[in-house]
Formats: sequence, C-alpha cells, structure tokens
Amino acid sequence: MDGYAMTFAPVHPSDQSNAGTTVPVGVARLGSWEIGVRRHVRSSSDLAAQYDVAAGTWEDTARRFGLVDSYGHALRRGRIGTGQRQGHGATRVLDCGIGTGSLSLALRGICAGPVEYSGIDTSARMLAQADMFLRGADILCELRRGSIDAIPHDGASFDIVTAAHVLEHLPDPVAGLREMARVLKPGGRLFACVTRPSLFGAFIKMRWRTWTVSERQGVTWLREMGLQDIGLCPLALGAVTRQGSTAFWATKPAYSDA
Ligand SMILES: C[S@@+](CC[C@H](N)C(=O)[O-])C[C@H]1O[C@@H](n2cnc3c(N)ncnc32)[C@H](O)[C@@H]1O
Repeated sequence: MDGYAMTFAPVHPSDQSNAGTTVPVGVARLGSWEIGVRRHVRSSSDLAAQYDVAAGTWEDTARRFGLVDSYGHALRRGRIGTGQRQGHGATRVLDCGIGTGSLSLALRGICAGPVEYSGIDTSARMLAQADMFLRGADILCELRRGSIDAIPHDGASFDIVTAAHVLEHLPDPVAGLREMARVLKPGGRLFACVTRPSLFGAFIKMRWRTWTVSERQGVTWLREMGLQDIGLCPLALGAVTRQGSTAFWATKPAYSDA
C-alpha cells in the first residue's frame, strides 16, 4: 500500500524507532521486539504544497473548530502570558506553524503589556493568509518562512514559543520541541497543542500521515528535555471532538544550556 511500511525492530526506549522517515500507525510489542505498521511521512515540500492548497479555507476550518476560543482557554489554564514580562520590554512571542494566526489572536488580551508577535510556517500561502487576518485584527506580526525543526531565529530570543497542531507533522516531533526550547529565553514558556489518540486522531492520522501523541508521551518528551512546571489539559475542537487534542505547557529553567 502506498506510503506504508512493515517494521520488525528492537523496542526503542522513547518509541521513536524509524524516526526520520515514518510515523507509527499501529505497533505491537513482543518482549523486547516491536512489530509495527508505519507510514512514510510527507516530505516537507509536499506538506507545504498541501497546506498551500488548504490555506484559502483554513480560516473557515479554524472557525468551525472554534480554535481561537479553545486555544484561549488552554493558554489561560497554563498561565501562558501572565507574569512573562522581564524588565520593561515587550513580551516576545513566536508561533511556529502559525497557519492563519489563531493562536496569536487567542493570546491577545491574555498577555499583559505590549507584545511583539512573530510567526513561521513552511507554507507561503498560509503566511500570506496570516498576514491578512492578523493585520485585519490590528496585530502586527513578523512572519518568516521556516520549519519548526530548524527555526530561523537566534537562541534565547522569545518569552513564549507556541505550536498548535504542527509537531505531529514532523517525522521526529522531539526535534521540533528541542528547537522551540532553544529559541526560548530562560524562564520562558512553551505551549504546544497536539492531536491525541482517539477516533478523531485516527482520522487525522490517515488523512495527514501525522502522529497522535498521548498525554504520557508528551510529558515524557518535555521532561526529557529538562523543561519544568509541565502541565496539560484536554483541548476541545468544536462540538464533536471535545477531546481531540491535548495542550501541553512547560517552562525553560532559568539556568539552562538548551
Ligand atoms: C494543522 S495547521 C495548524 C495551523 C495553526 N497553528 C492553527 O492552529 O490554526 C498546521 C500548520 O503548520 C504548518 N507546518 C507544517 N509543517 C511545518 C513545519 N515543519 N514547520 C512549520 N510549519 C509547518 C502548515 O503549513 C500549517 O500552516
């Protein structure tokens, strides 16, 4: 079948065997061996082309799933944007895989004081849509084309780094999380929403060849990166999918080499 691979491999400690080319569809463990069906991820350029096509209707999708409200609720639960200001400067926010800007819209009104918004995305058309929608909402946002696993910004330059429904597209989601942590200032907050294993997750996985990430797996990844104050909450995606995703948050330690 197109894009599928059968694997038989020793169990990898963080369930990331074959990371780099495939995502797991179904995996069974036999002692210290894993038998699995995995799916080849879309290449970055293939995915960007697919999102270029989706860009024109993404805002409708975002509205249908109530993304701004859902993200706002989770950001408040994680206390993202409160107590973030260091000195008198603006709070610097980076949204990775910004889409049409739903997370930036959700953050508005939550962050105290001035905010400098930045966003990256691999799809040029999504960036054009983000520019249009955020300008329309009076949000100035510096937008760059770039991938979450090679963020085109200096280390330790943001107070808040977010990614909503992006990490699951990567062959190795941890590489994306590591980059998010790199560009965070010490004491900065990371916020990521990821599709969880469910009926809805299975549909998304088949449609987009993505990961679904359990609460336990997400927390393990954040902990292994040395992040602190890790928390999570279920994220509703519209009326049908009350628990379609999980929002995770964490803090980069004040003294960190990450
Ligand atoms: C499911 S959409 C989510 C968009 C937005 N975050 C939201 O919540 O509405 C995924 C977005 O991530 C972008 N994307 C996919 N892979 C990416 C990568 N490796 N780096 C940055 N953006 C990526 C897509 O172009 C798309 O805009």
